[in-house]
Amino acid sequence: MADMQRRVLVLGGTRWLGRAIAEGHVERGAEVTCLARGASGPVPEGARLVVGDRDADDAYRGLDGDWDEIVDVTRLPAHARSALDALGDRARHWTFVSSVSAQRLEGAPVGADEDDELVPEDETGEDYGGAKAWIERTARERLGERLAIVRPGLIGGPGDESDRFGYWVSRLALAGDGPVLVPARDMPTQTIDVRDLTAFLVDVAPMRRDVVNAVGADDALHALIAAAREVAGHTGELVEAGDDDLERLEIGSWAGPRALPLVLPAGVASHAQRSSARYRAAGGEHRPRRAMLEDVLADERARGLDRPSAHRLSRADELAAIDSLASKA
Ligand SMILES: NC(=O)c1ccc[n+]([C@@H]2O[C@H](COP(=O)([O-])OP(=O)(O)OC[C@H]3O[C@@H](n4cnc5c(N)ncnc54)[C@H](OP(=O)(O)O)[C@@H]3O)[C@@H](O)[C@H]2O)c1
Repeated sequence: MADMQRRVLVLGGTRWLGRAIAEGHVERGAEVTCLARGASGPVPEGARLVVGDRDADDAYRGLDGDWDEIVDVTRLPAHARSALDALGDRARHWTFVSSVSAQRLEGAPVGADEDDELVPEDETGEDYGGAKAWIERTARERLGERLAIVRPGLIGGPGDESDRFGYWVSRLALAGDGPVLVPARDMPTQTIDVRDLTAFLVDVAPMRRDVVNAVGADDALHALIAAAREVAGHTGELVEAGDDDLERLEIGSWAGPRALPLVLPAGVASHAQRSSARYRAAGGEHRPRRAMLEDVLADERARGLDRPSAHRLSRADELAAIDSLASKA
């Protein structure tokens, strides 16, 4: 008799990571259902969308039978709770996509691992990390050994609407032989490619019963910018700005309309320096940086190197900042 087809349910599946997870399970031959409103986009080809609004009492009514694997990407405790109530007894295994934000930032040692302290829980869902921490504990209490928790660090790769990792290679390509503003201070970065993360969530997580921090390889920002410069063919000047300059120019860090993405404020030593040892030991991969940058640049070009973005410094504001630095010198 042929093997029974695995039944996989993705709570989500209409946005970036959730859709990739659903697609991965389809590719491996599973019967895949996604539960979402359908407001964020379509499910991948080969998957079935069951429309449900997790704010409503009857959200899960359209789902029949038992599941070999349920994956939830929610960030809202109320959505997690209702899913655990409705489906907790019908899942052989459950994977919750959490975040490293569930763990403390301040005071964490370099190389902090899965056992480092969690942030205070927030059942309201207002605090992102606190909400993930609440869901982690609640899911563990409800599901016990049937649960795997995967905590991604910053995710990058093609299709990233958060516009962070793609900034550097994109900006260097846009600048061509023109100047690009860079922070004078070097700092750690860790970005996991969405495709490596997805492979882990599809192939490895269903066999796990623990917590795994799926963070990217350690990469200093200056080395990343140098590699991005090669990939982008940038020949212009790198204009270094110190922390004081950036503050005076009102240029922020990490993400935001006037931010240099991936840049961390001075003193946030532990961020982007988490251990990926368990992820690697479990079979998680980190694709080569150059290949990732090439693919991301192709995606950035397709979406427009100079597109408006609420998450990164615009080229016009960057050039104004560079002019201001030159006139100060
Ligand atoms: N980006 C990063 O760097 C990063 C880092 C660490 C962790 N993460 C985690 O990675 C995951 C990203 O997931 P993602 O890319 O799939 O995006 P997402 O924004 O988490 O997707 C949310 C999904 O839930 C569905 N949804 C939202 N409200 C709903 C409702 N009321 N009823 C039913 N469904 C609802 C959405 O579909 P509809 O709108 O169609 O209903 C969508 O498919 C998240 O868990 C995030 O916390 C991200």
